[in-house]
Amino acid sequence: MLKKQLAGEKAVEFIEDGMVIGLGSGSTVFYTIQKIGELVGQGLRIQGVSTSRETTLLAQSLNIPLVSIDSVNEIDLTIDGADEVDRNLQGIKGGGGALLYEKIVASASRKIIWVVDASKMVESLGKFPLPIEVVPFGHKQVIKKMELEDCQPILRVKNGSPVQTDGGHYIVDLHMNKIEHPQKLEEKLQNKTGIVENGLFLNYAHQVIIGGQEGVKIKTR
Ligand code: A5P
Repeated sequence: MLKKQLAGEKAVEFIEDGMVIGLGSGSTVFYTIQKIGELVGQGLRIQGVSTSRETTLLAQSLNIPLVSIDSVNEIDLTIDGADEVDRNLQGIKGGGGALLYEKIVASASRKIIWVVDASKMVESLGKFPLPIEVVPFGHKQVIKKMELEDCQPILRVKNGSPVQTDGGHYIVDLHMNKIEHPQKLEEKLQNKTGIVENGLFLNYAHQVIIGGQEGVKIKTR
């Protein structure tokens, strides 16, 4: 079995009947959602809150009941993937471009579990380019500012056009290689007009399920 599949499927053990579950995005949580679909078929009653159009389509194809984030009081548990995770369970997300909706869902969640394969665990964040979600209007101005700050920004492009998120924004990836002070960087990015959200998820994950050669390991913050 793939390492990401091991991690993704393990996460369903934390789901209880009646819960509202945040459904993350990406190729690892894909296995979680597939497993949830099986369990729903066997009678599990949950309500899912989706973090992307892709996840919505997947959940619908598996007959997982979905509700809008604005119709629930709180999300009991969100299960999501991540692009990089350090030993303190601080992470980078947004490789698939869903960072804004993922962070909104995470912010409304009581508990967050990330599912990753062992290659995502790092000493320090930043090798994986940090995605920021930017408003299309004036995005080149934001890129210019990020260049001046030495953040090595590159607009994410597919088939010759800027990638557009579910929220209608663009993604700029910051190729910083190493992020020395994640908190400071986060503050800086939060204060820049035109940046809607950044992919630093600091103090979000409570647990990380890591799929590796010898099965799964669980780390708790
Ligand atoms: C989506 O934008 C991301 O935050 C994903 O959760 C993250 O990129 C992990 O995706 P994979 O599980 O496909 O690596």
